[in-house]
Amino acid sequence: MKGIILAGGSGTRLQPLTLVSSKQLAPVYDKPMIYYPLSILMFAGIRDVLIITRPGELAAFRQLLGDGGALGLSLSYAAQDEPRGIADAFLVGADHIAGEECALVLGDNLFHGADLPLLLRRSVRRLDGCVLFGHQVADPERYGVAEIDQEGRLVSIEEKPEKPRSNLAVPGLYFFDGHVVDIAGGVRPSDRGELEITDVLRAYLAQGRARLVWLGRGVTWLDTGTHETLLEAGEFVRHVQRHQGMRIACLEEIALHMGFIGVEECYELGAAMGHSPYGQYVMDRARSYLPERALAKLLEEA
Ligand code: TTP
Repeated sequence: MKGIILAGGSGTRLQPLTLVSSKQLAPVYDKPMIYYPLSILMFAGIRDVLIITRPGELAAFRQLLGDGGALGLSLSYAAQDEPRGIADAFLVGADHIAGEECALVLGDNLFHGADLPLLLRRSVRRLDGCVLFGHQVADPERYGVAEIDQEGRLVSIEEKPEKPRSNLAVPGLYFFDGHVVDIAGGVRPSDRGELEITDVLRAYLAQGRARLVWLGRGVTWLDTGTHETLLEAGEFVRHVQRHQGMRIACLEEIALHMGFIGVEECYELGAAMGHSPYGQYVMDRARSYLPERALAKLLEEA
């Protein structure tokens, strides 16, 4: 399965922070924002990822993440010259997708939860049409909102409705079969002039091939689009990391955990940033990887 991170956009709500630099390079506590959506694709087992940015920002993303080889990934880059909407990701990324299944994650979405890696891998395995997620929120009118019936089947999806039919917001993470480029090609700009992801999802829904997976209490979803929510996300990450002693979206650790790189490679990546607590953590995770795996195996066998 291919992956796309949509990391362009206007970032108007975060100005002046976003006047010369991408929102998705802004720090969320100890790492650039794009680490968080990239970590989600990695947890889903996706290694071939296209990063879409504003034209002037491609170089900065390339400088940060390179070709992904150090993490056992294959990263490529494409520019979206205008923020034409989220569904435009499939048109910009058509060559990358090349008729395969594809995951799209928005560059400003942050997910965290112990259940998440398993949930993602299951969604990928059982893909027929498309999978979207539902997350309970207090202010659904700010998001795409999903309505489900008594059996939990998806019934409707509405973009920022004035009177939401449920409090299930649809986060910026979706899985699609190989037809998504054709379907996105048939979408026309909405009243606000954007190619809406909701219209792509609705097209799948009309074919009876859109499934909603509920992100229960075990998963936290944060978006980072305003100064308030950006700071809150940073505080959340700081809080969890401090109390658990484990880092969220540490790409080197995830690459090791997923088997994309080995212990020595992971250690070297940490050592290259060894003056920072982040680098020290990566070295530490590499050191404890084999003993921890042995312990987990013993536990399984007991
Ligand atoms: P939005 O939050 O819809 O918009 P934005 O990031 O441009 O910010 P603002 O509303 O403050 O102007 O975007 C959600 C995510 O999708 C974000 O990571 C940017 C990305 N995006 C694109 O890359 N291209 C697009 O055309 C759009 C609409 C969004």
